[in-house]
Amino acid sequence: MKVLSFKNYQSLSDFAATEIANAIKNKPSLVLCLASGDTPKLTVELLVKKIKDQKIDHSAITFIGLDEWVGLPPENTGSCHYFFQSKLIEPLQLKPSQYFLFNALANDLQNECIEMDQVIDQKKGIDIMLVGIGMNGHIGFNEPGSSFNNLSHVIELDEVTKSVGKKYFTEQVELSQGITLGFKHLMNAGKVFLMANGIKKADVIKKTVDGPVTEDFPASIMQKHQNGFVLIDEEAASLLNKTA
Ligand code: GLP
Repeated sequence: MKVLSFKNYQSLSDFAATEIANAIKNKPSLVLCLASGDTPKLTVELLVKKIKDQKIDHSAITFIGLDEWVGLPPENTGSCHYFFQSKLIEPLQLKPSQYFLFNALANDLQNECIEMDQVIDQKKGIDIMLVGIGMNGHIGFNEPGSSFNNLSHVIELDEVTKSVGKKYFTEQVELSQGITLGFKHLMNAGKVFLMANGIKKADVIKKTVDGPVTEDFPASIMQKHQNGFVLIDEEAASLLNKTA
């Protein structure tokens, strides 16, 4: 794992977007998995702009959504589905065969997990995974205590996640479970970027980078990834001893 520190959110997002855009140029059939949330918002916007401005052929990429709030319809503006639909899928006019998102309304959520795992297998794994980090150290909805050996799974949400998650919704919603890719997917991914910005993420970044590797603090798994990068701005880096 390497830690890369950037002056601000803009430069950090631009770095991530450039990396992904270049990866698509090098491998037009790239399998890309992204998190939704506030952190990757600008990266996704910049990526779409780069693809359009540079006319990068994205007709063969595969996009995989990292996670979803169970029970939320895709029209809900706080859902991960809505985020990707409005920010990535529509702007790039991805074909339905090019993207895979968990259906959080499915009666059989276990089957959703099996199907997602099969898609990832068929695509021979994820090339690039860009994730954020929750205020409890979660990645996707891999909450504290989640096994590092998980594939896709459904999980009871942590109290911190339920409380922080309210920020995505304009109306009151009942958040109780999440459906998410697991850490086996993350460890098998060719390259992983974990992004964080702002002073509020300084403590979780410190634990991610300098703390013990433990399932009690999920993002610490990044230390084990051979091609893992922690991308942070100066504020999120402020508690670290040293950064590259
Ligand atoms: C959410 C999502 C994660 C996301 C994280 C951080 O609950 N499940 O996929 O990366 O929390 O979100 P944000 O970037 O808004 O801080």
